Amino acid sequence: MFKVCIIGSGMIAKSAHIPAYKTYSDYFSIVGIFDVNKQAAEEVALEFGIENVYTDAETMLKEQKPDLVSVCAPNMFHKAYTLLALNYGANVLCEKPLAFTYADAKEMFDLANEKGKTLMACQSLRFLPERLAVYEQVKNGNVGEVYYAELSRIRRRGIPTWGKFHLKEFSGGGALVDIGVHGIDSAIWLMGNPKPVSATASMNKVHANELGSAKSSGALKDNVTANTFNPDLMDVESFSSGTVKFENGAVLSFKVAWAANLKEENNIILAGQNCGIDMENANIYLGTDETKDLTVVPNGFNDEAFYGHFCLVKNMADVLKGADEPFVKPEETLNVTAILEAAYKSAEKGTEVKIDV
Ligand SMILES: NC(=O)c1ccc[n+]([C@@H]2O[C@H](COP(=O)([O-])OP(=O)(O)OC[C@H]3O[C@@H](n4cnc5c(N)ncnc54)[C@H](O)[C@@H]3O)[C@@H](O)[C@H]2O)c1
Repeated sequence: MFKVCIIGSGMIAKSAHIPAYKTYSDYFSIVGIFDVNKQAAEEVALEFGIENVYTDAETMLKEQKPDLVSVCAPNMFHKAYTLLALNYGANVLCEKPLAFTYADAKEMFDLANEKGKTLMACQSLRFLPERLAVYEQVKNGNVGEVYYAELSRIRRRGIPTWGKFHLKEFSGGGALVDIGVHGIDSAIWLMGNPKPVSATASMNKVHANELGSAKSSGALKDNVTANTFNPDLMDVESFSSGTVKFENGAVLSFKVAWAANLKEENNIILAGQNCGIDMENANIYLGTDETKDLTVVPNGFNDEAFYGHFCLVKNMADVLKGADEPFVKPEETLNVTAILEAAYKSAEKGTEVKIDV
């Protein structure tokens, strides 16, 4: 039985992490929860029967000595809590984005290595059935080396209406680090994790006065209180587009939006030496002029809104038992972080930014 502590008791802790640990209660027991908002932590503790509520992370780690910590605080606190938990001897499942700079991500993985612990970024959307279906094709060698990929993650009116996602002080960035990070992670994974060498990107603020519902902006269980913030206060991007180049000559083009006057999309397109895949339309373009259907096997995501977290938690149990490797590998997350860092730098400078990692 592995002891788990939760840091941050908001939407993702109560919708995904805690229910996943409860589902795998043969392996995990949640022994403590901490939030700067004591009332929020107490409410979640009551709902899920968690005995110990803390207003200080270090006290919780010292007293409970957890085997695993879920870092579910806003983005800007991921690094500090991850380092703290590792230093107290815990393994860490940290929400995305793991970090904002390659150097920070490296420091986090280096400490995990030094302590002999596992640190995994919560890239839960790899487990969407259509992404796993593409992965099967890649794994079986059907796609061949990917020379071009395209990520389109477009919400029309999906600026998160809960939490502090719209404020740089808490979230560090907007659509790109929030939902784009999932797409870039999946693209990198499906491309076989080629080494990125440069990025060019732009960040735009789309004036979306009309906020969508909590559910349409990512709170899939609709269990949050929507803010009524003035979008003019938002100091992060709601639209981002760009291009990443890789050492092997491959290119990834992306467009990511919390809000855009465009059709909704959640697609990854791969062009490989053997075939191409259009994920959203479930098409495989063969090396002839034939087109085949991509077979997508439902995997339970429709029944459980945050099914990907359940898969990551199960994977973590297997990793801790020594029976498996982390599904999301450090070297993939390091490349994703390097790309995010270069994209924001490029947008700021207005030029292409070299990635040297
Ligand atoms: N993997 C996914 O699909 C997914 C989905 C949604 C959110 N997330 C990530 O989860 C994290 C939290 O998002 P959320 O939707 O739960 O937000 P939220 O606003 O609902 O919850 C954040 C919680 O953290 C607490 N908090 C704020 N500052 C803190 C601090 N310094 N120390 C400890 N706790 C603090 C807040 O009081 C709040 O209870 C973010 O990093 C977000 O990117 C991931």
